Amino acid sequence: MDFGMGNRLSRVMGKGRTVMLAVDHGYFQGPTTGLENLKRSLAPLIPFADSLMLTRGALRSSVDPAEKVPIVLRSSGGTSVLKELSDEGVTTSIEEAVRLNASAVAVSVFVGSEREKQTLLNLSSTVDEGERYGMPVLAVTAVGREMNRDSRYLGLACRIAAELGARVVKTYYCEDFEKVVDACPVPVVIAGGKKVPERDALQLAHDAVSKGAAGVDMGRNIFQSADPVGMIKAVRAVVHEGADVESALAMVRQIAAGR
Ligand code: R5P
Repeated sequence: MDFGMGNRLSRVMGKGRTVMLAVDHGYFQGPTTGLENLKRSLAPLIPFADSLMLTRGALRSSVDPAEKVPIVLRSSGGTSVLKELSDEGVTTSIEEAVRLNASAVAVSVFVGSEREKQTLLNLSSTVDEGERYGMPVLAVTAVGREMNRDSRYLGLACRIAAELGARVVKTYYCEDFEKVVDACPVPVVIAGGKKVPERDALQLAHDAVSKGAAGVDMGRNIFQSADPVGMIKAVRAVVHEGADVESALAMVRQIAAGR
């Protein structure tokens, strides 16, 4: 691997495990609970994130350029919750990603959806350009309402994304998750999904890394927690230190009680 690609990937993935903080939700759903004021929500969390996944608008407006946190730039979009979500295009070029000193770019694919081909070609063209500049592409396997989030479907989506050149794939946790990881030749990280009780979100992170995930790219279960800083620290303990769910959960409560 060329130095630029290897260096950027290692900034995002560390030595194999990562806690990415996903705060890109506004690109299709506008103001999001917990992220109404991006700058205020992000500032206390940045020191504990291995990378930040967000749009260029959020980055320019709400993150201090002096921050050292690696950036994963959301580069597909063009849709809103009011219309067909799979109808995405490429919204941010690799040149812009280089200008913003991004360490990777993220593109969603909607396998099995109405616009499957369009989104897979968004990924391929971004990989073509990204490889030219040493910019890794993270594929996000977005799941339409009509799809089952099972290992067969997610395994299919992850494998296609990797075959099209994604250097990292982000997907959802599912039963038999180890089959998804085994069939995907690049590292897999999991999204947190909708807000659930802290214990369940920590269990999800724990099970995912136990079954081969390289970490999490978690959003709502961190920034919508009653204790976002405690929660990201607890997720870090699970992902980086192999903490069990109960001791990680106790950490969140202790932090919350100490305030
Ligand atoms: C969704 O398309 C976005 O890319 C989010 O970054 C992703 O869903 C992860 O966030 P959460 O943990 O809230 O599901």
